[in-house]
Amino acid sequence: MLGRVKQFLINISGIFKRLDEDYLVEHLDKGQLILFLKLSKSDAQHSIRVAKEMEKLAPEELKGIYAGIGLFHDIGKSRRPLSIFEKVALVLVHSVLKDELSKLVRFKAVESYLGHGRIGAEILEGRGIFYDTPWVREVIRYHHDPEYRCSGENETDGLFNEAMTALKLADNDN
Ligand SMILES: [Fe+2]
Ligand SMILES: [Fe+2]
Repeated sequence: MLGRVKQFLINISGIFKRLDEDYLVEHLDKGQLILFLKLSKSDAQHSIRVAKEMEKLAPEELKGIYAGIGLFHDIGKSRRPLSIFEKVALVLVHSVLKDELSKLVRFKAVESYLGHGRIGAEILEGRGIFYDTPWVREVIRYHHDPEYRCSGENETDGLFNEAMTALKLADNDN
């Protein structure tokens, strides 16, 4: 819960800072940038911080892909952006209801909060983003699913598992 409070304070401070436009232009093409800018300001700031952290955690040859995962991991939130009030309320309600919160998924705000991984994977698929690396979209789809791991039997499974571990670290710290 304390981590959540820290994350909330970082979120608030991000609203008043400029987006790191140089970083975005360096990593995204025009279509991707237009999509990215559909995120709320605080979600965009969070995603940039996660992307930078992901690059630090990435194997040399995957730095660009890891940055992309960071930038787009919460893109599902762009479909129904949550106000600060809604975010606070949902974190509190979630801490009380735990898994029971999923029963309220008919409410768009709850769906955005709980389902943004799946929604994000669908948005990216619809736009052909990560077309050559579909396992990346699966990382984004399951990034809040604590149990989900690939069996690790083939190369893609290994890539998935390593990127997922890095994303969870970077996401929690930022
Ligand atoms: Fe997320
Ligand atoms: Fe996140």
